Amino acid sequence: MSPAKTTPPSGGFIPRDRDWQPDALTPGYKTSIKRSPQAALLSFPSSLSEETSPVFGHGLLGALDSDLIHNYAQPGESAIGPRIIVYGRVLDEMGRGVPGALLEFWQANAGGRYRHKKESYLAALDPNFGGCGRTITAEDGSYEFRTIQPGPYPWPNGMNDWRPAHIHFSVFGHGFAQRLITQMYFEGDPHIPLCPIVGILKSQDAVDALTAVLDMHRTVPMDSRAYKFDIVLRGRRQTYFENREDGM
Ligand SMILES: [Fe+2]
Repeated sequence: MSPAKTTPPSGGFIPRDRDWQPDALTPGYKTSIKRSPQAALLSFPSSLSEETSPVFGHGLLGALDSDLIHNYAQPGESAIGPRIIVYGRVLDEMGRGVPGALLEFWQANAGGRYRHKKESYLAALDPNFGGCGRTITAEDGSYEFRTIQPGPYPWPNGMNDWRPAHIHFSVFGHGFAQRLITQMYFEGDPHIPLCPIVGILKSQDAVDALTAVLDMHRTVPMDSRAYKFDIVLRGRRQTYFENREDGM
């Protein structure tokens, strides 16, 4: 039996596919001009802590952290808006569930307004809605939280740009190299194809990957509709098999 000829970079993460991810500089999305790198990127090997941290325990979660309908509401009251469940799985590039991943999410209220000191949209605040929460994935990578469907809102990009209804996500997987910040859209929203931020995506497949689909099977009758949204993080390279050169 001859050993594998290549030393495997075991434990490392697969490089990002920059043909799939949007470009950093996309002038139609104005703030990308200031935020994008001005010089060529440099590549560094990832460190051990970037590949093995952070680790989160379910003990850090509060009872209402994954219930945005109630986590900011007065006792006996609830947030205004269409009640929904958002659920799905966090997967790696091999399709394996990622357990113990911390998901944080934040969003505008049903009128499209954020509870933030720099918010400038005139839609009303909801006194019972804060707009952020968090959860940790289960053993199979699944997650779920309750919220209200956010409204679209205008933003100062072009003369009259409106964001589709969306929920922001931050995901910590099993290594800082897997950190992902993204947005989830809602199936059927007519603002999706009009949005300059969605427009930086390179394919309809990429747009579809950010669009949650209505799932009537997970609705709670007379209570909440359900939207399914799977999230894919960078995967780890696998250690190579030590196969004989003539096959198994
Ligand atoms: Fe937003």
